[in-house]
Amino acid sequence: MRRVLLFILPILIIVSVAFTLFGFFQARLEEEKLTDDLKRKARTVAESMELSVKHVLLTNDLKNANYLAEKFETRERLQGCAIYDKDGNIIALTKRFADWKEKDRPYIKDIIANKIPRGELEKFKDYQVYSYILPVVDDEGQLLGMVEVIHDTSYVFARLTELWRRISSTLIILVIVIFVLSILLHRQIFALPIQRLTDWFKFFQRGETDEAHPIREKGDLGKLASEVEQAALSLRVARRTISDEASARLEKEEIWTESKLKDLIRAKLGEKALIVVSNREPYMHVVDEATGLEKCIRPASGVVTAIHPVLCACGGTWIAHGAGNADKKFVNSKDKLGVPPKDIRYILKRVWLNKEEEDGYYYGFSNEGLWPLCHNTHTRPIFRELDWQAYKKVNQKFADSVLEELPAKHPFVFIQDYHFTLLGKMIKEKRPDAIIALFWHIPWPTPEAFSICPYRKEILEGILGCDLIGFHVQNHCNNFLDTVNRLLESRVDIEKFSIVRSEKETFVRAFPISVNGHLSKDVKESSVKQEIDKIKKEFDLEGKTIGLGVDRIDYTKGIVERVLAIDRFLEKYPQYKKKFVFLQLAAPSRVHIKRYHDLMAEIDELIEKTNWKHSDSSWKPIIYLKRHFSLDEIEPFYKMADLCIVSSLHDGMNLVAKEYVATKSDSSGVLILSQFTGAARELTEAIQVNPYSIEEFADSIKLALQMPPDEKTRRMEKMRKVISENNVYRWAGNIITELTALRKV
Ligand code: G6P
Repeated sequence: MRRVLLFILPILIIVSVAFTLFGFFQARLEEEKLTDDLKRKARTVAESMELSVKHVLLTNDLKNANYLAEKFETRERLQGCAIYDKDGNIIALTKRFADWKEKDRPYIKDIIANKIPRGELEKFKDYQVYSYILPVVDDEGQLLGMVEVIHDTSYVFARLTELWRRISSTLIILVIVIFVLSILLHRQIFALPIQRLTDWFKFFQRGETDEAHPIREKGDLGKLASEVEQAALSLRVARRTISDEASARLEKEEIWTESKLKDLIRAKLGEKALIVVSNREPYMHVVDEATGLEKCIRPASGVVTAIHPVLCACGGTWIAHGAGNADKKFVNSKDKLGVPPKDIRYILKRVWLNKEEEDGYYYGFSNEGLWPLCHNTHTRPIFRELDWQAYKKVNQKFADSVLEELPAKHPFVFIQDYHFTLLGKMIKEKRPDAIIALFWHIPWPTPEAFSICPYRKEILEGILGCDLIGFHVQNHCNNFLDTVNRLLESRVDIEKFSIVRSEKETFVRAFPISVNGHLSKDVKESSVKQEIDKIKKEFDLEGKTIGLGVDRIDYTKGIVERVLAIDRFLEKYPQYKKKFVFLQLAAPSRVHIKRYHDLMAEIDELIEKTNWKHSDSSWKPIIYLKRHFSLDEIEPFYKMADLCIVSSLHDGMNLVAKEYVATKSDSSGVLILSQFTGAARELTEAIQVNPYSIEEFADSIKLALQMPPDEKTRRMEKMRKVISENNVYRWAGNIITELTALRKV
């Protein structure tokens, strides 16, 4: 429409200006014509009275003079008449013009002197009149007096007004006709063919055949349509071939790699693209506070770490909240952009939330309600009705956004995490043919713990809208099945590990999430080494044993317990002072929530206190780097760390533990890992600790530092094997295999 307006507007302006100019000249002509007419009439009337007035003046017959003056009262458009004596005094005057006498009109003297008639426009009371004065002379040419005819001019104005009214209504009709005609022509010539082409292409994108929307355009548009059709057909043939080749390769390869996952997806999903939904987006555009420049960052999130390599491998669309303050600048008209920005592999579609929605759905219900509900860390969940309403609204908003993207037949949707418990059901209501999986990245609590949630039923019903629900570990699957069994009317099938409710079956499975298995590539080794030297120099780490922690600042991560353990370790084993430095990288998170805000202050204070207690002028035990770090920036820290501590109080999996192991290509380093993480089930060669037990924790640091090199290597190699075999490609492959097995056709 905007384009049509841009096209029509100049035409309308030109037509309107031309028409107004034409009207203006026409009105001027009409005005001149009417005024001439008026003058002519006044003169004729005055001349027709000349003889009678002459007689009146010669006989000085005042009675007749008054009779003549009054005769005008009845004449159409004539206001009045005045008869003057030779000195310019009024001797008779139409009654309603009684005030006319008072008018000061110096030109009367000229008329007396020159005996030349004269017409003038005069103001009388509130209106304008035309006065015509004719000198009356005797046979010798001596002035006897004058006769004045006063004429109404308002009809000239009325005529001109009427003329302008007609001109403007013709102009309005003309503008409307031009407007409607242009829209119709534009629609017929451009919009409809383009709409047909777009529909056809949309159908093609969704994997439909083009028979429903054949393109039969002629001319230039027809040429374009034919080119698009050819490109689309070639693409379809290519996809088909790729899919067949992929199936063949899949049977041969054993280790899960990016290309094996690609093959699996091509073989199983064919032309259908995978749609992933999460709250956190993989790329965020933000304005750098220091420089004021826009930059693109990778948010600190386990979901992002895991899903990004999967989508890089298989393409598709990732729908997420556009939370960056510069995000809107980088999307196209459909709120989409290709990512990674320098090597586009998949589409990121951003969903916009207003402040109220973000407050209620993200900060409130998701992170003050569900997050503490699912983590056993003694932080009380807060449930507010307003937050729940916002949560429902935002789930619906995401559902609508997903529905817009779904291909015509049997789409696959992969939902991430606790932000979207209602999404599965909402999508299924509109698209029952969609095959939907939800992966729950955090722990699932016991039925008793979960049942305190006031919205437990709606949440469970929402989740059961999905066909497949994945958890990191079997224990969370068991908790989920128990919860549904106790809180909802349904049939739980322990054999198949599924739940049947209203004739709909949902399968529950454990899929331990992972990283890509070989994070550090050899080509990067030399640049990473340079980075390590730089960091060591900056923090004076040369010759010291380095411990590392990498976390979002979250109360579930056990950062406070970690600092207490380091404090206790240095108290118990002071011989490590000046020899051991612990680097804590910490990304601020969910800072608008009071609990997180307080935690940041608590950690700041505790680290300050611990450093003060143990430091001397040249050394302090803890270096606290509180900011966002990209994976590339973290890699040298992982590489140089002799020890990595993951001390979560409760964690679904914890990918930092796996990233550390995956990065240790020389099999050096020791991992201290909380027994309350999902990762502890797989990484059994880590030193496992109970982070609440500060004594045990402090001793485990000592154990790690004292461990013989052979033992370290043996443990690290075992853990690396576990991760390279159970990498994120296997994780995604298993989920997609399960999902496609559910396909109903
Ligand atoms: C956990 C959740 C993710 C979340 C991440 C970061 O790992 O499971 O869904 O993205 O924390 O939290 P944030 O609130 O910053 O996205």
